Amino acid sequence: MITRIEIHDLTKQFGDITAVNNVSLDVRKGEVFGFLGPNAAGKSTTVKIAATLLTPNKGTVFINGYDVLEDPEEVRITIGLLPEDGADTHYDRLTNYENLQYFGGLYNVPIEELQNRIEELLEFLELTDRRDESPRTFSTGLKQKLSLARALVHNPPVVFLDEPTSILDPIMSKKVREFIDKMGESQKQTFFMCTHLLSEAEHVCDRVAFISNGRLMEVGRPSDLRNKFWTERTFELQLVNNNPAKGKAIVEATGLAKTVKMEGGRVVFVVEEADRNNPSIVYVLIEAGLRIVELRERVPSLEDVYLKVIGG
Ligand SMILES: Nc1ncnc2c1ncn2[C@@H]1O[C@H](COP(=O)(O)OP(=O)(O)O)[C@@H](O)[C@H]1O
Ligand SMILES: [Mg+2]
Repeated sequence: MITRIEIHDLTKQFGDITAVNNVSLDVRKGEVFGFLGPNAAGKSTTVKIAATLLTPNKGTVFINGYDVLEDPEEVRITIGLLPEDGADTHYDRLTNYENLQYFGGLYNVPIEELQNRIEELLEFLELTDRRDESPRTFSTGLKQKLSLARALVHNPPVVFLDEPTSILDPIMSKKVREFIDKMGESQKQTFFMCTHLLSEAEHVCDRVAFISNGRLMEVGRPSDLRNKFWTERTFELQLVNNNPAKGKAIVEATGLAKTVKMEGGRVVFVVEEADRNNPSIVYVLIEAGLRIVELRERVPSLEDVYLKVIGG
């Protein structure tokens, strides 16, 4: 296992505010890691320190083995960054193409490789026909697309994306998510993505961390966090002839469900230890002559988990 991002006991204070409070975590090669938290949680501050734009009060970050405090130059070559204010950092006197060429050139990408890479990114971000325009004329969303291209133009092994799709339209957001997913898998690129969009994180992130008031609350795979915080599971039962009242009475009579209710013609029940209890419940239903069309779990979303951890 190769660690690409190692955060050690990181603390950052701004006057009386502790923006980041003793955070430690590791992100592995090829992982898409989600950094989730409400506004002012400390997400951007963490990214800025990892990207060598701020120095911490305590602790440090290693990127690809390089310490951000000892080897900031090495770190900068290794990373791509879509900053929080990514829409406003282009050169208006250059065209979009020239902007990418300029920033790619700073990383000494061989010219042919750079050209191919720029074409690819413009194409993917649907900017090809606007390559010769200036970003000055662009909307915030288009500027952010260009920033994203800039973060990726030198094909860095580690990419920080601070709220990457917050101002892109839903279709583009989806494309960006797919792109990240693909790059994490095929190129073993590592993505560290701050977001407050839980559904976004749920679909692309291999692991997520919840941060609140500068403190790391939980780290794990979305499915593991779900299991950790949901020992009770909710199931929906649909019966032939839609006979939920009878089904409800039978499930109740088993005494195995914590709660049973009817909802839209279905029986909805909550159990602990579903592996043990559900087979018994199903057996009793069938014995009573009821026929099951569907028994389906209502899986809590990552957002449900998050709200439980962060506390509303
Ligand atoms: N340059 C700064 N000066 C003073 N306070 C700051 C500065 N940057 C961030 N903060 C404060 O630190 C906290 C964390 O901010 P930030 O890391 O931007 O959170 P997030 O990205 O999760 O919204 C907030 O309370 C914010 O107001
Ligand atoms: Mg932020």
